[in-house]
Amino acid sequence: MRGMADPSPRAAMLPPSPFVRLTGLLGGTLPGMEPIALSVGEPQGPVPAFVGEILAREAAGFSKYPPIQGSDALRGAIAGWLRRRFVLAYDAVNPDTMILPLNGTREGLFLSLFVIVPETKNGKRPAVLLPNPFYQAYPAGALASGAEPIYVNATRETRFLPDFAALPEETLQRTAAVFAASPSNPEGAIADLAWWRDLFLLSDKYGFAVLADECYSEIYSSPTPPLGALEAALLLGRGLDRLLVFNSLSKRSGLAGLRSGFVAGDPKLIAAYRDFRSNAGPQISGPLQAVSAHAWGDEAHVALNQAIYRTNFEIAQEELGNLPGFRQPDGGFFLWMETGNGVETALKLWREAGLRVVPGQFLANDAGVGAVAGNPGIPFVRIALVNGPETTRAALKRLASVLTGPGT
Ligand SMILES: Cc1ncc(COP(=O)(O)O)c(C=O)c1O
Repeated sequence: MRGMADPSPRAAMLPPSPFVRLTGLLGGTLPGMEPIALSVGEPQGPVPAFVGEILAREAAGFSKYPPIQGSDALRGAIAGWLRRRFVLAYDAVNPDTMILPLNGTREGLFLSLFVIVPETKNGKRPAVLLPNPFYQAYPAGALASGAEPIYVNATRETRFLPDFAALPEETLQRTAAVFAASPSNPEGAIADLAWWRDLFLLSDKYGFAVLADECYSEIYSSPTPPLGALEAALLLGRGLDRLLVFNSLSKRSGLAGLRSGFVAGDPKLIAAYRDFRSNAGPQISGPLQAVSAHAWGDEAHVALNQAIYRTNFEIAQEELGNLPGFRQPDGGFFLWMETGNGVETALKLWREAGLRVVPGQFLANDAGVGAVAGNPGIPFVRIALVNGPETTRAALKRLASVLTGPGT
C-alpha cells in the first residue's frame, strides 16, 4: 500500500530530464579532451551593463512585494516591443488586458494549462498536443492539469513541424490545447503563414487553445525575422481568440538567469491566468521588472547577441557543411544533426573529443504519433551553438574530425 507521503504516480509519469539522462549516459566515461559543453541552451554572451546599473539604482524595491500583473512600465515596454517587432496595429495589443509578465516562458508554458484544461472535453479525458521532440514544460503542464499529452512527430517529412491536422478526429475532438514552437527547439524550423492558418482553422473548428512558444524569435538565419503567431492571426483576419504567445529575455537578451518573460494574447485567457497567478503564481521582483522593461526597449544588446549567433552558424557551415547529416536551421541556436544513432554519437564525441551534446532520442518521446511514428530523435544529436566563436570553431573542428574519422 502507498504510504501517505509517497509521491503521486502522476509525478512518475513526468518524462525524465534529458540532462539527467545525459549524465547517466556519459557519467562512467572519461572525456578524451578538455570538455566543451554544447548541451544546454544557455547563451554564454556577456551580461549587458545596464543590468547591474538598474539593479543598483532600484535595489530598494527588493523590500516590497511586487504587483502580480507587473508594473505599468514593464507591460508598456512589452507592448512597445511587440508593436515594433511584429506587424501589429497600435491598438492590437492592450498592455492592461492582453499582457502578463512572467518568470520566463517556462512558468507560463506549465501553469497556463491550469486555466485552460477542463475536467473532460466532449465527455472524454482532455488531450494536449505537443511537438515531438518537445520542451519539458509542455508535457509537465499537460500531466499536472490532468490532460493526456499527445506527442506529434516533427520530422523531415513534415518540414520539422508537427502536422496536427493529420491526427484522428477522436483526438482533435478532445483536444484542449496545442503547443506550437516557432522557431522550434531543437530543429530550428519556422512556421509560415500557411502553417499558422491550418492550425487556427483547427483551433476554431475544435475550440482548443493555441500556446505559441516564441522564445527563439530573435535568433534566426532566415533573411526576414520569423513571423509571430499574433501577427499571423491578425494578418489572417482571425482575431486572437484562444491564442496565447510566450516570449522571454532568456535567449533574446542572453539573460536566462533573470527569469523574465511574458504571455500575450486573448484577454479572456490572460484575465483567468492573472487571477490564478494572484493566488498561486510567482511575482517578478520590482528591480528585475525595471531591468526587464529596459531590455524590451533596447535592441543594441540584442544585435550584439545576434551577430555572435550569425558568426557561429557561418563557422558551422564552414566546418560541417560537407557532412551528409548537416542542415542549417532557419532559427534558434541549435544544430539538429542526423548522424545515424544519436546515443552512440554522443558517447563517441565525449569519449574521443570531450564534446557534450544531447542525443535527440532524449529530447523526444518514444510514443510519438504521425506519418512516421515512434521516437523521431533517434538518429539525431542536438548541438547548442551558444559559446563564443572561438570555442565554437574549436568544438566543431573536433566534431568534424570525429564524425569523419575511422570507425564512423
Ligand atoms: C523551446 C523552449 N521554450 C521555453 C524555454 C524556457 O525559457 P525561459 O527561460 O523563458 O523560461 C526554453 C528554454 O530552454 C526552450 O528551449
